[in-house]
Amino acid sequence: MKSVVVRAHPLRCDIEDVPIPHPGPHEVLIKVIYCSSNPRDWKAPDHLLPGEEINQGNEMSGIVESIGTEVYEFRIGDRVAAAHPMQTANGTYAEYATAPVNTCFLLPPNISLEEGCTVPFALCTAALGFYQRLRIPFPTSPQNAEIQTPLIVYGASSSVGAYTLKLAKLGKFTKIIAVCGNGRSYVESLGVATHFVDYRSGNVVNDLRAALDGEKCYHAVDAVNTGASWNNLVQVIEQQGSRISVYLPRLDYSSIPAGIEIGVVFFGTVHGESTPFHDMKCEEDVDFAYALFRLMGKWLAEGKMSGHPYQVLPNGLASVEHGLQLLKDGKISAQKLIYRVADTPGLNSD
Ligand SMILES: NC(=O)c1ccc[n+]([C@@H]2O[C@H](COP(=O)([O-])OP(=O)(O)OC[C@H]3O[C@@H](n4cnc5c(N)ncnc54)[C@H](OP(=O)(O)O)[C@@H]3O)[C@@H](O)[C@H]2O)c1
Repeated sequence: MKSVVVRAHPLRCDIEDVPIPHPGPHEVLIKVIYCSSNPRDWKAPDHLLPGEEINQGNEMSGIVESIGTEVYEFRIGDRVAAAHPMQTANGTYAEYATAPVNTCFLLPPNISLEEGCTVPFALCTAALGFYQRLRIPFPTSPQNAEIQTPLIVYGASSSVGAYTLKLAKLGKFTKIIAVCGNGRSYVESLGVATHFVDYRSGNVVNDLRAALDGEKCYHAVDAVNTGASWNNLVQVIEQQGSRISVYLPRLDYSSIPAGIEIGVVFFGTVHGESTPFHDMKCEEDVDFAYALFRLMGKWLAEGKMSGHPYQVLPNGLASVEHGLQLLKDGKISAQKLIYRVADTPGLNSD
């Protein structure tokens, strides 16, 4: 089958012929119909050791091709969306990819494979930050019905930010402040944020204070982690007892005051990996993901959740390099870039 290997310095993607993988005992093998790009796909190769080159890609939708020996919930032919473990072989930029059952879900009939492909990795990352790190009550908790103090989502038009807003809609917030730029109209269309701050205004801290209007804020999501983002946030949230979720585990967050709890999100924890540098295991995230992925399908079927806007790039896997360069150059606003594997020139596995 064809599989993309992402190389760094400079960013380069090569399509190679490799054997079709076999699923592990608790995995499914998926014939990938659509896969999507995430910022980590161009960032991660920078952290690989020289010579350690693997195919990237963590998000896909497709059809179950075979199942591992211990799998009992999925059947061959099931229409699914799934997240592949970070930094491991058999990723989603390929004709076939593996996924553990705790990060795979059945796509309901009302959701297209294109839309489904935008959901699993990004929504799960947002949910880890929101429920596991900020400790916002989960929708099944009785406390979910209680009014929550204001929430700030920095980078609200990003996939992680927008899914955070959609999760917030399942709770009870009376004030949600969205920090965004070009993607504001999309964020507005979600109907969740009550206040908007433009990160390019040059006066973000004052604008956030004006939006808070004296209300105490204990929860902030920093979905962009630019440095300026968390330094702006910590000036407006409470200095004791508040929490901020961050999504780039390798950065230095020591400028965040000690009284503010930093919730480091690393998607790998749902597959049993520890966070880089902070070395947190977060074993509870494994079953959290299992439960969340079952609810993803239900929420999508009921219209409580929706995918992220997307653009299908031409030529399937042959466009991954272009897509990653667009992400690296910051040219994509409020959109996922996805690829239809069947559009790849020269496929030979059928
Ligand atoms: N730790 C993990 O496991 C994990 C998993 C997933 C993602 N991440 C990280 O989380 C971050 C978000 O990922 P993503 O997939 O959601 O990204 P994305 O959708 O590609 O983000 C693009 C968006 O970022 C916004 N943006 C850029 N600079 C901004 C700034 N200074 N302030 C506010 N918004 C800004 C843009 O907003 P406008 O268009 O409105 O200008 C754009 O819509 C990335 O750094 C990614 O590497 C980490």
